[in-house]
Amino acid sequence: MPTPHNSAKLGDFAPALLMPGDPLRARRIAETVLADSREVTSVRGNSGFTGTYQGRPLSVMASGMGMPSLTIYATELFRDYGVKRIIRVGTCGGLSSEVEVGDVVVALGAHTDSHMNVARFPEINYAPVASWPLLEAAMREAPALEAEGVKVHVGSIMSSDHFYFTPDGLNERLAQYGTLAVEMETAGLYAVAAEFGAEALTVLTVSDHLLVSGPEMTHEERETRFAGALRLALAAAMS
Ligand code: HPA
Repeated sequence: MPTPHNSAKLGDFAPALLMPGDPLRARRIAETVLADSREVTSVRGNSGFTGTYQGRPLSVMASGMGMPSLTIYATELFRDYGVKRIIRVGTCGGLSSEVEVGDVVVALGAHTDSHMNVARFPEINYAPVASWPLLEAAMREAPALEAEGVKVHVGSIMSSDHFYFTPDGLNERLAQYGTLAVEMETAGLYAVAAEFGAEALTVLTVSDHLLVSGPEMTHEERETRFAGALRLALAAAMS
């Protein structure tokens, strides 16, 4: 304490932490959601914040992009700072034809092309899955969101190491198997939470669709839809 990637002191982080990908999004969440927010770390410009939400402690810190970056931060938060649950709140590309831009996706489990969990379990295909109590708490908030016109999906997603490369036909096959969307972090997050006996959940906004063309979200739509995903993430964090 501190760690190579975190200058906070022990006790600076709350047991529950929201984790967007983008450090500027983390700052924005801290400014708009937390009361009495203070910056507890800023190594490499990746600031972490702790404050309260509805009178209870809550932290926010970004993962950066991809499983290696997320796994570094999450390992140190779970192992060295006593964080007990991390809720990733991010964006994804739609795969399933059931999913539309602007919908919310809650990740039950995450397929991956990453080697990170193969290194943990060379003998088997490890299945990274969400923490059920967090998933259940998030989904209790879903009907309220759906009543406001935001569709919420729960199911499997793909965590990819590549943003700009996909093997021919892979996205189509994943969609055929009911995979809702693709992002780049969750298979790493669910495994590192399991490693430390901690809890994790991913709640995503669909920012684009990889297989079905349709209208892009406006900037305002992006913000309101992100706010919807954030509500589910907060319900899980505070449960
Ligand atoms: N791929 C990976 N991650 C993403 C995407 C994507 O298409 N869209 C939003 N996050």
